Amino acid sequence: MCGIVAYVGSKQCQDLMLEGLKRLEYRGYDSAGIATMHNGKINVVKTIGRVANLEDKLETVGGVRGTIGMCHTRWATHGGVTDPNAHPHTDDRAGICLIHNGIIENYASLKTYLQEKGHVFKSQTDTEVLAMLIGELYDGDLEAAVQAALREVTGAYGIVVMCEKEPETLVAARKGSPLMVGVGNGEFVIASDGSAIIAHTSHAFSLEDYQVVKVTPKGFRTSTIHNVPVTPKVQQLEIDLEQIELGSFSHFMQKEIFEQPKALRNTLRGRTDIREGKIVLGGVGSFAKQLTMAKRIVLTGQGTALHAATIGEYLIEDLARIYSVAEYGSEFRYRNPIIEENTVVVAVSQSGETADTLAALIEAKERGALALGVVNVVGSSIARETDAGVYLRVGPEIGVASTKAFTGQVAVLTLVALYLARRRHMSADQCADMIRELEQVPDKMERILEDDARVRTVTEKYIDRDNWLFLGRGYNYPTALEGALKLKEISYIHAEGMPAAEMKHGPIALINDGMPAVFIANRGRQYEKVISNIQEVKSRGGRIIAVATEGDEHIKTLADDVFYVPDVPECLSPMLTVVPLQLMAYHAALLRGHDVDKPRNRAKSVTVE
Ligand code: M6R
Repeated sequence: MCGIVAYVGSKQCQDLMLEGLKRLEYRGYDSAGIATMHNGKINVVKTIGRVANLEDKLETVGGVRGTIGMCHTRWATHGGVTDPNAHPHTDDRAGICLIHNGIIENYASLKTYLQEKGHVFKSQTDTEVLAMLIGELYDGDLEAAVQAALREVTGAYGIVVMCEKEPETLVAARKGSPLMVGVGNGEFVIASDGSAIIAHTSHAFSLEDYQVVKVTPKGFRTSTIHNVPVTPKVQQLEIDLEQIELGSFSHFMQKEIFEQPKALRNTLRGRTDIREGKIVLGGVGSFAKQLTMAKRIVLTGQGTALHAATIGEYLIEDLARIYSVAEYGSEFRYRNPIIEENTVVVAVSQSGETADTLAALIEAKERGALALGVVNVVGSSIARETDAGVYLRVGPEIGVASTKAFTGQVAVLTLVALYLARRRHMSADQCADMIRELEQVPDKMERILEDDARVRTVTEKYIDRDNWLFLGRGYNYPTALEGALKLKEISYIHAEGMPAAEMKHGPIALINDGMPAVFIANRGRQYEKVISNIQEVKSRGGRIIAVATEGDEHIKTLADDVFYVPDVPECLSPMLTVVPLQLMAYHAALLRGHDVDKPRNRAKSVTVE
């Protein structure tokens, strides 16, 4: 997802905006740009590559001056990765300058209209079309021109605009792409994420869809694109700097893997009642009855969130005995889904902004489902669309590779499954036993993390292998998928995850001498079957890396390398078995010399289809 930072106030803003932009680098991008206004003239500098490249370019031109400006990181959608396609974009008549997150869907027809009016375009982007359109409609009032232009637009946008004729004004607007306004003392920071604001002020408000804000050093005015005034709710940002800084860690992914025990304690805090043997979920309270009566639960998400959702499917079916199914948001939304009475849709998402998950949720809601969110980012689009929900409370996740959000999602889905089970058939004693086990998971995770150095040594043994398999069964089939995804997305090693039994139906042909096969082989209902699958791979020359339960000595006779995890009930095991896989992916990326936190072609949050 692209990043936006803009400033108006009394300070020279180049460096402070770039600082903010660096905090958004984790979101993934391929070019960066900045514009400031000084003495009524807009200066734009942009380049492909990192923010560091932009800083170099700024140094060669002597920097840009001004107490008003905007900067942007672009993740290419329309038009390739080139300097002209980077943001900010300007118009050719009215002195308009604009940055944009999202996609203008009707840009082609608007472009034709503007070309017929004589406008000349310099880029292939949809964003430049919007800059030109605002310029075309500008008649001495930037706010009015932005409102008018946005009434002509279909698609998604978070935009910030300035105009040479109004040298103290920024206008910003949102539809489907988050934008926050930080309210300081005589200064304002507009950003696509609170982490770029928090160094300046902890007071901020989020724009809602179809809202516009006009900001000057003296104050702000919010309205709709139809110019109906609205009053935003200025709130305290729930982020502290420590959470978004590396501290003693080398990478955010590493920090977030190691933060998991603490994050999980936070997720569980106040949500379990061991004495009463029950789960307390304030966020779903008013829908408790409807939830308990659910006949079918559809869990939806993408990527890692879908893997967590699939574990949720197993948990809800196994513990609460409700028919449940996990599905990609991108598939669900277009398949003309059947939503019967008493269907609940659960959207699982770290960011709460994933376009496909959001669209699936809306689709299900429109067809009558009750909508539940399992989301990390408070106040995000998915959180706002749902009827009820349970936040992850794992803190901001900066690393592109999702780690603590995954275990947080699984923990929340475990709570939801137990909540439903207890209201349907589970006894207080049974529930209290599960809570006891659940509350020990963070300590047990800490023990696994102590094995970090050995995980690195083992990973090093296989680092030259270009194809890996990840295999698991039952609750740990989705863990296998997650292990494979982690490895491929940051180390660029080809990896496939699948149910261990599926291997014989084709993928077994891939196994050759020395191919690493990672088996999640913890104790559980299907342990013996996993052991047979291990034998099948081993006898064909595969190298076995097993994740097994502490005390399992037998596995050592089969596996080349073993990572042990403490014993837990099978349904809780994915929160532990995934940890060595996360560490392996992290070390593999480092050993291959890749940028762990900024993997190629990836964006932290995918807000386009
Ligand atoms: O923000 P979300 O959880 O909705 O994001 C969904 C996926 O893009 C995300 O889980 C992705 O697969 C992970 N970052 C990969 O590690």
